[in-house]
Amino acid sequence: MADPMARLELFPVTTRVAGDPPRLFIDGVDVAELARHHGTPLYLYDQATLDQAVDAYQEALARHYPGPSIVVYAGKAFLCRALVRWAVARGLGIDCTGAGEIQIAVAGGAPRARILVHGVNKTPADLDAALAHAAVLVVDHLGELERLGAGWLQGASEPELWLRVRPGLAVDTHAYRQTGQEESKFGMGPAELERAVRLCLDRGLPLTGIHFHQGSQFRDPTPLGAGLDRVLEMVARLRDLTGWTPRHLSPGGGWGVAYHEGELPHPPVEPYVAFVAQRLVAGCAARGLPLPTLHLEPGRSLVARAGVAVYQVGAVKRTGPRRWLLVDGGMADNIRPALYGARYSCLPVVEPARPALGPAWVAGPYCESGDVLISGLPMADVAPGEWIAVPVSGAYHLAMASNYNGARRPPVLWLAEGRARTVLRRETPADLLARDVG
Ligand SMILES: Cc1ncc(COP(=O)(O)O)c(C=O)c1O
Repeated sequence: MADPMARLELFPVTTRVAGDPPRLFIDGVDVAELARHHGTPLYLYDQATLDQAVDAYQEALARHYPGPSIVVYAGKAFLCRALVRWAVARGLGIDCTGAGEIQIAVAGGAPRARILVHGVNKTPADLDAALAHAAVLVVDHLGELERLGAGWLQGASEPELWLRVRPGLAVDTHAYRQTGQEESKFGMGPAELERAVRLCLDRGLPLTGIHFHQGSQFRDPTPLGAGLDRVLEMVARLRDLTGWTPRHLSPGGGWGVAYHEGELPHPPVEPYVAFVAQRLVAGCAARGLPLPTLHLEPGRSLVARAGVAVYQVGAVKRTGPRRWLLVDGGMADNIRPALYGARYSCLPVVEPARPALGPAWVAGPYCESGDVLISGLPMADVAPGEWIAVPVSGAYHLAMASNYNGARRPPVLWLAEGRARTVLRRETPADLLARDVG
């Protein structure tokens, strides 16, 4: 059976095995000590891993794109004030979906110039928050543009408008994560786009950009090249019809990560960025279009590997041929296995190098048979009371977490410079009751 230590490559870049007994340390901090002190389930975010991921994007853009560029963090992957502060310090923009994420970005100190707003069906409150705080509002469809009304966008500080295009092509990923296909609920097709551009020009609205996003957790950028060509074709036609060209262009985010050892190595960022940059340069040159500012909008590939979820095994159970490790978290803090059939891996926090006893199923405490975090993973002979650590837990876990079965959402510790700091506390029963005013 494969060496369990191969899984260390899934963990944050600062992860080491040290001590007696040997155990996991992240950024020099003893994970067992954190679990003992803070309880479980517990989420850890390693800043050095975040920094390495953003460096990879920024360096690849500088190397491969001759025009201006910016990395915009997709806040939907995970957002809290500490993450916003880190993103702002690293020069990132922040993509917010709706008023709630905008409020977190503002509370974390994101200036207007860095906030971009998405949403397929923005409420009046979402639009108000965007007008008050964002530099860019990405309009999803013509109806939204009409609702904005001529009177709304007159102040100098109000957001510029971009239009979201549906290229009619998705990337290769789970159907629930595809967004660019013809029948997707997101964005506008060519005819609607043309009407939207004309409406903006007629009303003198500050239209400056085009956005598209074909899906999430893909490893092959090829469909992105075809999608980009389709979008540039639409842009060239708009230029011919109206004279307008975008100053900004975003092909969204979605670059994938490795979630379990079968997917290693992690897909490198540089070839993806190089592919997009070169295709954009060539596509603009072929159509006589000016080079736009290139925006990339990654979420998962910036934060997923930085995050680790720590659980305690409460019981080990056998049903038929299956060995169950029943842990204290599950679908309430990580819905991805139930939602997408996502596969994960894990290691015991203490003595992680122990050889596997055989396959194990790691399941949560919630009243759903689908509350299974990991299926059939070769695992050591883990006993009740032990902690296990699940790597690649930084994206779309806590952002999608729920209070199912009265679960209290777990705390988040931020690891930097050899120290752990609580940035989100554990929810309490009082939190559960706080908005129950009945
Ligand atoms: C518009 C948009 N941008 C960026 C992203 C980020 O995707 P990922 O976290 O996979 O990079 C998404 C994800 O759904 C998205 O819808």
